[in-house]
Amino acid sequence: MRNILVAGNWKMNKTPAETNEFLQILAEFTKSNQHPEVEVMVAPTYLSLSGARDAIADANILLSAQDVSKNINGAFTGEVSAFMLASLPVDMCIIGHSERRAYHQETDETINRKLQMLLASGIKPIICIGETLEQREAEETMEVVITQLEGCLNDVKLATGDEIVIAYEPVWAIGTGITATPEQAQEVHSLIRRLLSKLYSNEIAQKVLILYGGSMKPTNMDELLSCGDIDGGLIGGASLEIESFCKMIEIAIEKKRGV
Ligand code: 13P
Repeated sequence: MRNILVAGNWKMNKTPAETNEFLQILAEFTKSNQHPEVEVMVAPTYLSLSGARDAIADANILLSAQDVSKNINGAFTGEVSAFMLASLPVDMCIIGHSERRAYHQETDETINRKLQMLLASGIKPIICIGETLEQREAEETMEVVITQLEGCLNDVKLATGDEIVIAYEPVWAIGTGITATPEQAQEVHSLIRRLLSKLYSNEIAQKVLILYGGSMKPTNMDELLSCGDIDGGLIGGASLEIESFCKMIEIAIEKKRGV
């Protein structure tokens, strides 16, 4: 069975001091609330990564960046390289988030280069894909998801499937309070797994964690996690409050315990 990953994407929220305060509480919480098949991850801003590393030093919490440069090093003002992230170290890095695609014109080709940088640096990428409302209404969802995933994974070799995580985030569900129904999400997740099986092998496809993202919260998490191909969540708003984030970790643990 695959693990459940409960991942918080904090976007442009929380100062280093707020990050530290949150993570100290979270570290305590995860000491008494854990399960070998439930992983917890947080993605603060670049500015807070170093402090966050210290705050979670003895805790079983994964640390992620929210983005990375597609370049190795050099004259790229404002950018952070995969090598720099690896030196902290960070465990994971989100790439291709729809906000980066929309506000920074990132293409699948850019995301593919970032992916290659991360894999070469030993950081696990969380590759975000998902359709807009217009694309869903035009019944283009499946085509969009396939194109994005094939573009992001172009020339990417996988040995086990454990090297990457995929997050299906329908753009219309992000920050809107509207969540995809479990049926809508499962339909796309199962397509993603079938595509991975075609691109790699069934064995590899069965290992890749596929997260759902888009207004996931304590009240809808259980039913989403009940879907066969949903292996956790990439959570925005509901990961910013310690109570709701801890509640979501509890829900994942209960799911694994079969409660
Ligand atoms: P919300 O949970 O706020 O909808 O954000 C989802 C997201 O974009 C996570 O990357």
